[in-house]
Amino acid sequence: MKVFIVGIAGGVGSRLARLLTATGDQVDGLYRRPEQGQHLAADGIHATHGDLTRLDAPALAALLHDTDVLVFTAGAGGEGTTATTAIDGTGLTTAIEAVRLAGIRRLLLVSVFPEAWRHRDVSDTFEHYIDVKKKADAELAATDLDWTILRPAALTDEPGTDHISLSPALTHTDITRDDVAATLAKLIHTPQIHHQILELAQGPDPINNAVHRQTRT
Ligand SMILES: NC(=O)c1ccc[n+]([C@@H]2O[C@H](COP(=O)([O-])OP(=O)(O)OC[C@H]3O[C@@H](n4cnc5c(N)ncnc54)[C@H](OP(=O)(O)O)[C@@H]3O)[C@@H](O)[C@H]2O)c1
Repeated sequence: MKVFIVGIAGGVGSRLARLLTATGDQVDGLYRRPEQGQHLAADGIHATHGDLTRLDAPALAALLHDTDVLVFTAGAGGEGTTATTAIDGTGLTTAIEAVRLAGIRRLLLVSVFPEAWRHRDVSDTFEHYIDVKKKADAELAATDLDWTILRPAALTDEPGTDHISLSPALTHTDITRDDVAATLAKLIHTPQIHHQILELAQGPDPINNAVHRQTRT
């Protein structure tokens, strides 16, 4: 299977790329800073240098040859509201148009719990981030693609546990980036899961079992 990861040099994206490469999938993806290509290449991962905010849909589509699944895990992080709109929002719009142009059916989006940290005194920047992410979810869910939206809880860099909770509705806690990547890898190889929004947090279930439980026959 060939997987194209938008955000391949990021915390989740790079872990996913390493996992998929190790298990024999073909991986490509978009990274933004030149030095990231060298780090990825050192792990045997081929990827493509480019800035999502400077690519239009035909240009991104041209990079997607032979792609079976596009994973969108890019994000502006702490870069501010304009960048959040451009990357997490408009960037997804570009990716949706690009997969259509390239004739690809499957798109997996890494999103966020809509209520993440909202009980705290969060900034306007964070509120904007949540708003952009929810609108991106809605935009993707309205398409006729075979989409899946994965909403991880707060991300940590602790070692993976291989144990999660995965469900359309969960309480927001946290989850390791290792376990998010492993869950995405399993979802990529479970094509019968689509048109589903799944929330993900640390939990008691082995990842394989948790994903299998979400398959609908
Ligand atoms: N942090 C949390 O607790 C949390 C919780 C739930 C969901 N999420 C979501 O989970 C996703 C992945 O998180 P993460 O920790 O892996 O984030 P990350 O490490 O910041 O990775 C995101 C990647 O997207 C890349 N990117 C940003 N703008 C780009 C552009 N214009 N063109 C190409 N690439 C671009 C970044 O490039 P650079 O490396 O150059 O910055 C980065 O490598 C994000 O969408 C985030 O919103 C985060």
